[in-house]
Order: sequence, then C-alpha cells, then structure tokens
Amino acid sequence: MKTRSFSAFKYSFRAPGSRVEGPIRFAVGQAVLGMVLVGRSQRGICAIFLGKDAQGLRDQLAEAFPDIELLADQPALARELNQVIAFIDKDQAEGVLDLDIGGTAFQQKVWQALCGIPSGQTRSYGEVARDLGVPEAVRAVAGAVPPTCWPSPFLAIAWCAVMAPCPAIAGASSASVPCWPRSLRHEPLAVVPDLSRREVSMETRALFEVTARDPRQRLGPAAVVLRGFALPCVRELMPAVENIEAVSPFRHMVTPGGFTMSVALTNCGALGWTTDRRGYRYTAVDPETGEPWPRMPDVFARLANKAAEAAGFEHFEPDACLVNRYAPGARLSLHQDKNERDYDAPIVSVSLGMPATFLFGGHARTDAAVKVPLHHGDVVVWGGVDRLRYHGVMPLKDAPHALLGSQRINFTFRKAG
Ligand code: SIN
Ligand code: FE2
Repeated sequence: MKTRSFSAFKYSFRAPGSRVEGPIRFAVGQAVLGMVLVGRSQRGICAIFLGKDAQGLRDQLAEAFPDIELLADQPALARELNQVIAFIDKDQAEGVLDLDIGGTAFQQKVWQALCGIPSGQTRSYGEVARDLGVPEAVRAVAGAVPPTCWPSPFLAIAWCAVMAPCPAIAGASSASVPCWPRSLRHEPLAVVPDLSRREVSMETRALFEVTARDPRQRLGPAAVVLRGFALPCVRELMPAVENIEAVSPFRHMVTPGGFTMSVALTNCGALGWTTDRRGYRYTAVDPETGEPWPRMPDVFARLANKAAEAAGFEHFEPDACLVNRYAPGARLSLHQDKNERDYDAPIVSVSLGMPATFLFGGHARTDAAVKVPLHHGDVVVWGGVDRLRYHGVMPLKDAPHALLGSQRINFTFRKAG
C-alpha cells in the first residue's frame, strides 16, 4: 500500500484490482444542492455518492459493493460526512480525510501523476501520458481521469474511490459512473477541455489538492467578488442567452464620441442600456428591432438578487440586464455606471466563459485601479460608497473556455428606472 499526504487528504492506494475491506459503514446527509452518502471501509472513505434521496443513495452503494456488508452508522461517520459536505457546499477543507483508493494499476499511475502536478498548473492528457512513459496512451489516460460530471473538483476524487470494487468499470463511459443528477450539478471545474489543442487539460488547482480558497474577495467597503457564485445555474443561463439573442441580437454600439465598442452588447429586462452619437441612455424598446427588449429570465433575476444579498444588499430587484459579449482582444475602457436613476441599488456583474482581468479603480478616472482576475461563474457586486467607482476590462486573451469557446459573456444587472 502506498500512502501520499496532501493538505486535505491522505490517499491510501490499495493493491491494484483488489477489493475493499468490509464492512462498509455509511451515513447520509444533506448538502445545499442535494443528498450525500459517505461510505468508509477499514482503510478510509471508499465511496461518496450524490443524489436526490437517501434510498437512491443506499441503492447506489449496494450496487457498487454487492458482496460487502453495509452498515448504516450515522454517528461513526458524522465527522467525515461533515467534512465532505463542507467541501461540496463551501469548497473548504475541515481536517484531513483518509481516502481508500482502488482502481487498476494503470488508473493508479494516472491518479498519482495527477497528484504530482503542482497546484495551479495544467496538463493535457498527452502530457500526462508522456510523463508516464506511454505517449501513445492518450485515450487511456483520458479514460482514467475523473469524469466532468462531478459537481466539484474535490468530488472527482470520489470517482477514483468508487472504482475500487469494480476495476472492470474502467472502460465504461462516465454515464455508468454514479454521479450527481444533471439538474443538481455544478459546472465541471476540474477537467477543462482545451479546445485549441483538441485535448483535455487538467486544472489541478483543486483536483487532488484543495487549497483553502477564499470564496470572497473584498474590493472595497461595499464591493466584493463572489467566486463561483453563478456556477450552480450556468446550465440555465446559457440557453437563456440564446433566447435573448434571437430577439435582440448582439451588436457593436457607437459611443457619443463616434467610437465603435469592441464589446458586442444586447439587453434583457424592462430597460436596456444603449449608446449612439446622441448619448448614453436606457430605453424600453430595442432601437434596432423597434420591439421591447426580451424579458429578464427568472433565473437571471434570482441570481442577481441572491448575489446582491450575499454582498449585503437586500431586496435587489434589477430592471435592466446588459449582456456583453467579448471576443479575444475586446476590452472595456474605464467608466462609471451612472446612467441609472437609482444609485442606492448595487451593480451585480456575472462573468461566464473565458477569464478576464477586471479593473476596479477609484472615484476619479486617474485613480489607480486594482486588477482582478475573473473566471467563469464569478460574480462582482459593488454598491453603496463604491457604487460610482471607475471600472473596466483589459483586452481579453484568447484562452478558449470549455463551454463557451473563445468568448466571454458578462451580465450586469442594474436598477435603472
Ligand atoms: C460593465 O462594466 O458593464 C461590464 C464589466 C464586465 O464585463 O466585467
Ligand atoms: Fe460598467
């Protein structure tokens, strides 16, 4: 048995292909997004299942470990269950968790190679295969990497643990691996298809080593970045953008100074922001179609309201949502959001797709601006004393995103009228 220690986990790799040592004690608990079952063998946690109800989870466990005695034992698993739920809900390590990892010899090699990638670096499948001395085995490496359907990078580890009783599953598709029901999943964070290289690269920042990542970054007394806040609803947001675009297409607007914006823009909600040679303003009708802007989808309004609340602004009810689309090279120069009637309400800005560097300055254009990297799912909220701070976006680098390709979509929610 080889054991490796990392910040939050102790990995105990069993002899390849060997079975879990039973009995397995298990407990079921509630995470924000669904139910979680944690199973522990003689060596450590050997199963983490996610689902909608306790019975379904027990069935999954029985199916995965058909010949092993299973004992419901809520008190004995209380600590591990809470640790796992803390990871799921807060991406936070609360103590060290012993993992009992099975799998085939090849899978174990791949997983150990993943453990060896320094935190924050990425590797393609091809690179992992080369590092293992089997450059031709790119597909096999891909098959051994946890599937993208796991709700958080941490939980990808559970997939490895789940392989334990059943090495034969190695060749199976991810569909046959127990995972979080579609409606409850976050976006995959751990495994990011690198479209430019037609391979999949691994974001190892949190795959096998979870760093205590602060989910909030304060930018001012009333301005904050909420990391990953929008991730749970991305699957609903993106189809909604398509519906908006079908009614009010993205367009490159012209500023009063005659400059054509590099960012393409559309709106949804009762009011939409526009600019032309006559000035900046909000209108109820899309000047290009002569029709009202598309209505704001409920999921948008809910997300904006919850993000504002998390930042300390209660009862935010936006009536305008600008949808910005950035292609590589697009930028937004420093500006204040001041065409709204009501400065009491905050601005809520949601980032999707390619990463960007957000600039957050002071109350004068010439004040120094901090550079804030924004990733898929991050939300920035600024209001109160920070409401009129200058902000902008640096020219976007081309770093294609798994879901959105070479674009960044940003929503800014406002109370305009
Ligand atoms: C804006 O200031 O309107 C958009 C900011 C962003 O794209 O992050
Ligand atoms: Fe703005």
